[in-house]
Amino acid sequence: MSTLFGDELLSRPRREIAPGAVHVPGWLRLDQQAWIAERFRGWAAGPVPPRAASVRGHRMSVRTVCLGWHWQPYRYTREATDVNGARVLGFPDWLVRVGRLALAEAYGDDYPAREYTPDTALANFYDSEARMGMHQDKDEASREPVVSLSIGDSCLFRFCNTETRAKPYEDLLLASGDLFVFGGPSRLAYHGVPALYPGTAPPGCGLEAGRINITLRVTGKA
Ligand code: SIN
Ligand code: MN
Repeated sequence: MSTLFGDELLSRPRREIAPGAVHVPGWLRLDQQAWIAERFRGWAAGPVPPRAASVRGHRMSVRTVCLGWHWQPYRYTREATDVNGARVLGFPDWLVRVGRLALAEAYGDDYPAREYTPDTALANFYDSEARMGMHQDKDEASREPVVSLSIGDSCLFRFCNTETRAKPYEDLLLASGDLFVFGGPSRLAYHGVPALYPGTAPPGCGLEAGRINITLRVTGKA
């Protein structure tokens, strides 16, 4: 019974971290998480394999596979010219629906969720050593919100302000199934992942070790 109705369910309330930045713990059910983890394995099988991008000469520890548009610092292209030149997989309709449901959940009537049409997804895999430095998501010409979904091991997620990588920031736990949305005044906030917590992936989430994070974005490209 303690796993079904544990105290952790009480201690992780939904919260607006900053204006436009909303954390919804446990938004995805376990079966949805497992289904998405299975899709991730399909994306990783090709045509473009996950790769660790190099940013200013430093190879990232996270490996990324993209849908719709391929992200490389600091642009989006249809072909993964920095990997193998292949065209990335299309952006699936079900992910557009997930994006709309996410924004309806996060913003309610304050945002026209039905009009949200993300056209790229960056699906990141973190092993136990992986981290992501503080950065802004600003390679998109559009300033529509970013929707983030997490599956597998929990991580420490640091959410800063739009001015600096330094304090004031808020540290929160992103666990399997959590939704995080940042848009509006928080769209260009610095954020990063300073730590991963191995062994915390819940049974049934579709991933035994490591963490998948999927961000849905609007590139603003035609
Ligand atoms: C990202 O900043 O693009 C990913 C963040 C995360 O892994 O939660
Ligand atoms: Mn980011």
